[in-house]
Amino acid sequence: MAARWAVLGLLAACVASAAKESVLNMCMDAKHHKTQPGPEGALHGQCAPWKDNACCTAETSTGAHQDQSYLYDFNWNHCGAMPEKCKQHFIQDTCLYECSPNLGPWIDQADTSWRRERILNVPLCKEDCELWWEDCKDAITCKENWHKGWNWTSARDGEGWLEGVQPQLAHCRPLSPSPGTNRCPRGFICQPFKYVFPRPGDLCEKIWSNSYKYTTEHRGGGRCIQMWFDPANGNPNVAVAKYYAQNGGDASPVPRAVLLLLPAALLSLL
Ligand SMILES: *[C@@H]1O[C@H](CO)[C@@H](O)[C@H](O)[C@H]1NC(C)=O
Repeated sequence: MAARWAVLGLLAACVASAAKESVLNMCMDAKHHKTQPGPEGALHGQCAPWKDNACCTAETSTGAHQDQSYLYDFNWNHCGAMPEKCKQHFIQDTCLYECSPNLGPWIDQADTSWRRERILNVPLCKEDCELWWEDCKDAITCKENWHKGWNWTSARDGEGWLEGVQPQLAHCRPLSPSPGTNRCPRGFICQPFKYVFPRPGDLCEKIWSNSYKYTTEHRGGGRCIQMWFDPANGNPNVAVAKYYAQNGGDASPVPRAVLLLLPAALLSLL
């Protein structure tokens, strides 16, 4: 009997460690991700740091740099033109999301029509979050959560967008609005990011419904995910994923469930 338990224990440990290994280099099951990470020599612009090992294709990396690209038809300029210095952070955020093979420990189920998996509570480095906020604090938006609640109703150019909005916000007119993109819903006022997101953590956590978690961990410390990195020194997020896969935290509820249920499942086979 003791021997049988020892064998079961070993098996469970093997499966659990395999599950942990597998989250270390993987792509989520979402709209544009490849099924497996791999080299992508031609990644565009700000997505190039991931070219040695990426979940995005070159085409996706190009889309990440375009206003209202085919990726999500999402309009950054829903309250007027987003300043370039702010937009570069949204591009980098898109590159990390589409290209990183190191987000496995934070992949969660997403029951939406357009993706089966999402990221939840990815611990973003303090500097990445604070620079994002600093460069965007004077940009304009009408919503705190950009995942939900937009008006996606098609409308002809210039039709309807101003209804219910104060005249002084006329500068908030979207740049060349086209059918099928996100618009501010009625009653939502365009205002600077610094009012919508008073602190950096509000921006990083709320904008994508907790995809990111604000942390006080610093770049280079191995305890937070970097949106920005110099590929000359390798991808720092490889070690971060490994650390969280081994040390839990918010990470990987699925492998933990597998670990708990496995001995019972194996016993029932004997
Ligand atoms: C959405 O936009 C359409 C077209 O502009 C408009 O008729 C409708 O009232 C808007 N709905 C909301 C909730 O903002």
